[in-house]
Amino acid sequence: MFFIDSANLDEIRSAVDLGLVSGVTTNPTLISRSGRKHDDVIREICSIVHGPVSAEVVSLTSSEMVDEGLRLSSIAKNVVVKLPCTQDGIKAASKLKAHGCMVNITLCFSAAQAVLAASVGADFVSPFIGRLDDIGHQGVLLIDEIAQLYENRYETKILSASIRSVEHVLTSLKLGAHVVTVPIKILKQMFEHPLTDKGLEIFMRDYKEARYGR
Ligand code: G3P
Repeated sequence: MFFIDSANLDEIRSAVDLGLVSGVTTNPTLISRSGRKHDDVIREICSIVHGPVSAEVVSLTSSEMVDEGLRLSSIAKNVVVKLPCTQDGIKAASKLKAHGCMVNITLCFSAAQAVLAASVGADFVSPFIGRLDDIGHQGVLLIDEIAQLYENRYETKILSASIRSVEHVLTSLKLGAHVVTVPIKILKQMFEHPLTDKGLEIFMRDYKEARYGR
């Protein structure tokens, strides 16, 4: 299953038009690139995509996160409140779950953090595999570790994030990610194969020659 990692409405529309994307993840960085107000962007994304749309809090204390999460959840019924994997974030997640909100624990860089997210009943946990690669780790191994720990124990979905390559997508899925959130550039790269282009060119040429002669 694919989500698109973007707050750009044109990108989101084009990914949805492809029929491939069932959810969206945003973060404060992506929203700031849109140059628009946070809640307006989330509202518009939720009108385009009916699946889960992650909207991240920017508060740092659990009580403020809960208030912010409740406000974000009221924007649309498919909003998933995205919270950092800190003590405050986990505490807020537990409270927001009790209010009936969906939550996604983000900035997850270890199996221990993923277990904490699952223990409070998070709907999603977002391991950032590209950022682990950036510091010399093999990010995808974290997906494997979380998948093993979660197996038959937790309902939390592993949402592989910080995707930098097609290889990241495939390995995440192989190792047990339930969802991969992809930038549009990577989604488009997944279509590419020179033999597809060449094969199509030959089919078109042969069709025209058979129909109209050489
Ligand atoms: O949605 C969060 C995540 O995917 C961030 O990716 O490329 O900023 O590490 P990146």
